[in-house]
Amino acid sequence: MTELRHDAWTDPGPTPGLRLVPDLPRAVGDGLLAPEAGLDQEMVLRRRVPVTHDVVTLVLEPTVPGTFAYAPGQFVTMVVDVDGVPVERCYTLSSPPTRPHLLTITVKRMEGGALSPYLHDRLRPGDRVSVRGPNGDFTVAAHPAARYLLLSAGSGVTPTLSTVRTMADLGELDDVVVVHSARTPADLACRGELDALAADHPGLRVVWVCEDDSPGSASWQGPRGRLTADLLAAQVPDVGDREVFTCGPPGYMTATRALLAEVGVDPLRCHEESFVLGESAAPAVPALPETGDAPVALTEVPAAVPGTATVTFGRSGREVVCAPGTTVLAAAQQAGVSLPSSCGGGLCGTCKSGLLAGKVEMSHQGGIRPREVAAGKFLPCCSTPDGDIVVDA
Ligand code: FES
Repeated sequence: MTELRHDAWTDPGPTPGLRLVPDLPRAVGDGLLAPEAGLDQEMVLRRRVPVTHDVVTLVLEPTVPGTFAYAPGQFVTMVVDVDGVPVERCYTLSSPPTRPHLLTITVKRMEGGALSPYLHDRLRPGDRVSVRGPNGDFTVAAHPAARYLLLSAGSGVTPTLSTVRTMADLGELDDVVVVHSARTPADLACRGELDALAADHPGLRVVWVCEDDSPGSASWQGPRGRLTADLLAAQVPDVGDREVFTCGPPGYMTATRALLAEVGVDPLRCHEESFVLGESAAPAVPALPETGDAPVALTEVPAAVPGTATVTFGRSGREVVCAPGTTVLAAAQQAGVSLPSSCGGGLCGTCKSGLLAGKVEMSHQGGIRPREVAAGKFLPCCSTPDGDIVVDA
């Protein structure tokens, strides 16, 4: 007779922080990909899921199954052909990496935007798009903590969606508070899903904050107005003990940074992401008229001033002498050389270019991989010349 033994179950104790990255199951990509393996690929739109009156979730299927690994909170750069013109924009993945076979992005329609109206109105199931990435380090996986506070506004909810879905899948929704702000209740994305997760997981609490009522609907009964220090302290009394992730439009980010300081959160525990899509952080400099192949010095800075550098654009034959601290993207604008750009902050990789000669000081935020740097690529938006350089543009 076989003796069955039951060892006493022992409580492993409190989770010592998230284990999202080291413990990712093989299905997510761990072990399937060589480090720095290329993740850029075409994806097929499988489904469109309406989320609110002006937000849609696009369900994308990688054409190389099982090879797209990412961390919750990371973003991709979509490259879509719009009437013959390739348009690039960054979108945070709203899907969790624990479900690797289909990816989702959740897109708010921006009237007059270069890509979101196309994604809303014209991209159809079966259409293919190019997806580059993932990029970014706005992820709980990089900041293990016992307690989290996820703050978001508007379409900044997307990293929150990916993060909460991932934690729920991995059974790690131990102590998370979500505080999401929107204009009206009709603008709350995925409210039903997050409320249902909170009902099922005692470790998740979701606070919705609305500025106003939805037209024609019942009066909003939850917290009303903009997020304030008093409101945050009342809703999250232990805010100072939490790792805080904030994502939203620039005005919200500025206000939230101030109120987090007011309630005493250590800045080292605050992590932010804000995208101003389609705008560049580089100074706006009017492009100069075409001047043929003749090199042109476009600034008032004499070349003899210490720290000045000559930036030559190899293919266009243009040249500019720029002041210390000028980014290569700004130098390109001064020279009338068109370089693609999106985030302007070293995040998205849109401006990636080849460096043919010389050195740059680059301070990026995950928009380029070490193997690309080793291959002579750099990000002009967050790079300043270290001496004279030649750029492949
Ligand atoms: S524009 Fe995004 S990395 Fe340069």
